[in-house]
Amino acid sequence: MSRSGELARIIRERAGDRPPDYGLILGSGLGHLADMVDGATIPYADLDGFPAAGVSGHVPRLSVGWFEDRRVAVFGGRAHYYEHGRADAMRLPLEVLRDLGCDRLIVTNAAGSLRDDMPPGGLMLLDDHIAFAGTNPLIGEPSEDRFVPMTDAHDPQIRAALRSAAAAEGIDLPGGVYCWFSGPSFETPAEIRAARVLGADAVGMSTVPEIILGRFLGLRCAAVSVITNMGAGLSSEPIGHAHTKAMAPVGAALLERVLRRLMRD
Ligand code: HPA
Repeated sequence: MSRSGELARIIRERAGDRPPDYGLILGSGLGHLADMVDGATIPYADLDGFPAAGVSGHVPRLSVGWFEDRRVAVFGGRAHYYEHGRADAMRLPLEVLRDLGCDRLIVTNAAGSLRDDMPPGGLMLLDDHIAFAGTNPLIGEPSEDRFVPMTDAHDPQIRAALRSAAAAEGIDLPGGVYCWFSGPSFETPAEIRAARVLGADAVGMSTVPEIILGRFLGLRCAAVSVITNMGAGLSSEPIGHAHTKAMAPVGAALLERVLRRLMRD
């Protein structure tokens, strides 16, 4: 059996056979959203090959069970490219998600806004993204499947469902383009201006590799940013990881309501 197949078997033993309707990856400061799941929680340490705890604000555990009326698999932590230089660090967890029989993925992240009408504390739905970090998680993948079309990488149906869920909750969910910077240093003001010229609405250090891997694995994908700050140079507020973690819960409360509604309707 493949490594991911074996891990999926272990997870099914603990959490039951029913395939998740959605996989969810939680961003910085959003880890507590895993507490919403009524089911089994498995530390990544028990899942050989899953990323070790690397970045504060992430909880390295997989929660599989019920969230409102849906089955979900919630990845409390993610590995980032900037931790070790491997953009494919989330490949095994996403292969496991596929092997659990799940075909929908929602990725969340903390991001810096480039738009005055998207202030910190709010949300942005990714309509599309720019892989600006200069690498790709599928480099080295030998199969022909590596030539993944990215035209509808952000699934129109899941996005529409997220928009309806937000509207039903009275929560603003503007669409925008997310630009992936490698990190771990934050952007310079010049880089933020460049990102704006390129067509970006928000910047962050994650998500894009997971969307590429998700599409490669045949998952329908969508992503939501929690805006924690304005991009460098756009405001006088501080930028830093501590600030990201402090601000994330504000948007996370909105995100939780959107997701709860999505999982009910
Ligand atoms: N830049 C990159 N990543 C981020 C930011 C930012 O301004 N805020 C939260 N994550």
